[in-house]
Amino acid sequence: MKVMLWMILGAFLFLISCKESGKEMLKNTKPMSELHRPGFHFTPDSMWMNDPNGMVYYKGEYHLFYQYYPDSTVWGPMHWGHAVSKDMISWEHLPIALFPDSLGYIFSGSAVIDWKNTSGLGKNNEPPFVAIFTHHNMKGEKAGSNDFQYQSIAYSNDKGRSWTKFKGNPVLANHDKLKDFRDPKVIWHKKSQKWIMVLAARDKVKIYSSPDLKKWKFESDFGIKNDNRLWECPDLFPINVEGTDELKWILIVSMQSGAPNGGTGTSYFVGDFDGHHFVNTNQGNAQFWLDYGTDNYAMVSWSDVPDSDGRRLMMGWMSNWLYAQKVPTVRWRSAMTLPREVRLVRCDDGYYRIRSLMISEFDEYWKNKTNIKGDASARTTDIDTNGLYLINITFLRSQGLNMILTSQNRDTLTAGYIADSNVWYIDRSKAGKAGFYDHFASRHTAPAMLKGDTARITILLDRASIELFGDDGLTTMTDIFFPTGILNKIDIVNGNGNSSDGIKKEIFPISTN
Ligand code: FRU
Repeated sequence: MKVMLWMILGAFLFLISCKESGKEMLKNTKPMSELHRPGFHFTPDSMWMNDPNGMVYYKGEYHLFYQYYPDSTVWGPMHWGHAVSKDMISWEHLPIALFPDSLGYIFSGSAVIDWKNTSGLGKNNEPPFVAIFTHHNMKGEKAGSNDFQYQSIAYSNDKGRSWTKFKGNPVLANHDKLKDFRDPKVIWHKKSQKWIMVLAARDKVKIYSSPDLKKWKFESDFGIKNDNRLWECPDLFPINVEGTDELKWILIVSMQSGAPNGGTGTSYFVGDFDGHHFVNTNQGNAQFWLDYGTDNYAMVSWSDVPDSDGRRLMMGWMSNWLYAQKVPTVRWRSAMTLPREVRLVRCDDGYYRIRSLMISEFDEYWKNKTNIKGDASARTTDIDTNGLYLINITFLRSQGLNMILTSQNRDTLTAGYIADSNVWYIDRSKAGKAGFYDHFASRHTAPAMLKGDTARITILLDRASIELFGDDGLTTMTDIFFPTGILNKIDIVNGNGNSSDGIKKEIFPISTN
């Protein structure tokens, strides 16, 4: 008996010491691992993160849930991590909201405020938060069945702090046995006074309706003829064409392959929705990319932003499934994009397109800081901003533009505009560590949309990411990269590389304190 007790105690102490040494390991590796930790983009404190989930606003708080695996820095049994923010930039980490259970892992999904308590899950006259997510049943998948993904709900009566899974789960079974049947995004459809769910099903979006978030009725399918890409993480929302009363609907779909610069990316369709069907009304049934960089996936919008605010706010996962699990961060993996406001415009060529803006809350972090442009005519600026800054550049289109960012170790990231081919570009091929994936060291382009003698561009740098806003936001590019030092020297020159004629620039440090 005594021996047994000693053995148990020994095992216990061993386990504790392993845990401690694990912590130590993280501490010791901090300088390298934290070199790439962004200053103003959301990251989990530690371990693996992918898609943003359940983004919802309630009483002054923006909630962010996210695909999270707390036991490793690679993908695994999915949980919903949770954080809240007053401005979508500074986040407070909260305990994990949803854990895997006997029905499966907790895959991507959305959350709503059930204002009218249609679900009956509310308490004390407070509307419940309801999360709608995919249960992914690993056992079922391993056993070779096809119906291992189905939709379930959970609710919270304390402003999202604690969650209860609904007893009647799943609320939408996978009757058609579709291997890919996931990522429900639910919205309240005012006109029909019903909940609408868009769901990714292989190469389609399926639309369902419900009076109470518990019973779901199939309405229709939306797809593209002969598309054989895998569709994920849809979103559907109404939006007015900027400055008019014309109302359109946006259907967002993330594509698991075929993004403009390779791998995974977020796309959209513009059309009409009558409570049953989505119809693409853009010319030629166009499908556009929300972002031309390699690192903006699963971008979806916040639910329940008050009408008095009126914005459509979105955020994506700043990575690409091609290499997300291999990127050289140690303590944590993956960040989210900067939240963006999206607007719809009708362009001169007749197409409806989304333009993306930095959210106005972000202005607080840079606008009133000193512009470090110094001498406007100087081509090169040495800055000491810890790698966080915003750059506005105006230049003569015909001259092209190269912005060259370098670190002490000669990591070099370039971005700009190529006049001959009329494209924006980001080149991360010499920007630091790239050996973890064969095609990571690459140059990415996006067709420029606007004409005119001068062009404007805004660039956001956050140590290991660049977000480029061109064409008044009609073109965005988001790329990650992994320099071995901070990029703190900025060279801004014309396309020919040796003059800075006609270039006007502003460089603002971004401060998160
Ligand atoms: C998209 C995705 C979703 C799925 C989740 C699993 O990145 O593949 O389709 O729900 O990630 O983590």
